[in-house]
Amino acid sequence: MKKIIIANWKMNPSTLAEAKLLFNSAKKGVKNIKNIEVVICPPFLYISNLGPRTSKIKLGAQDCFWEESGPFTGEISLLMLKNFGCDYVIVGHSERRALGETDEMINRKLRAALKKKIKPILCIGETFKERKEGKTFRILKSQLIKDLKGFLKPKDQIVVAYEPVWAIGTGIPCQPRDAKEVLIWLKKFLPKNQTIYGGSVNSENAQNYIKIGFNGLLVGGASLKAKEFLDIVKRAAIC
Ligand code: PGA
Repeated sequence: MKKIIIANWKMNPSTLAEAKLLFNSAKKGVKNIKNIEVVICPPFLYISNLGPRTSKIKLGAQDCFWEESGPFTGEISLLMLKNFGCDYVIVGHSERRALGETDEMINRKLRAALKKKIKPILCIGETFKERKEGKTFRILKSQLIKDLKGFLKPKDQIVVAYEPVWAIGTGIPCQPRDAKEVLIWLKKFLPKNQTIYGGSVNSENAQNYIKIGFNGLLVGGASLKAKEFLDIVKRAAIC
């Protein structure tokens, strides 16, 4: 299975020129790296201006809406994403959950994405308080059960990203032994799904997560630094 490195640019950068620079640097840099797929997830506005995708570099969106068209102010449909060359979509990122996205909405987005043959990257993770209280697995289980409710086979097509909320954007990555514990648990729960790690990944710690068995990484802040991001990709690839 190819390792997958997702670049989640979030609400960055501020200009299209910077976005193009970042995309082109990644595209050039990954050309000769084997066994890896890089997915750039820019803000919606830039998607149509980046590309074209290749076998090594794909485009993804950071969110989507489940209906195909109609009176849904501010939303972007999966059909639109498909028409603009997106192969992936992030669903249920903790920053969206924090803004009120529910597991029921996530479930609808996942179903709609699979229907349109766009691969969803489902983010799950516990808060610091939940980890401290020993509730990590209870939380992950509850998210997975609700988010994947009613799925049969196609659920294998979902990439699952373990992203402890307390590790996202904090510079405090999850200790590999804790991440491994979660990975083992996840593999029992979803044996066939590609499972990746996200949360303060950088070029120094990227390999740790691949070495313990994650099939890829979800990179936020570090994906906005062209060289740092390429270093992450290269190091993950040689593991
Ligand atoms: P980070 O973000 O790498 O900046 O912690 C990860 C994420 O977006 O999920």
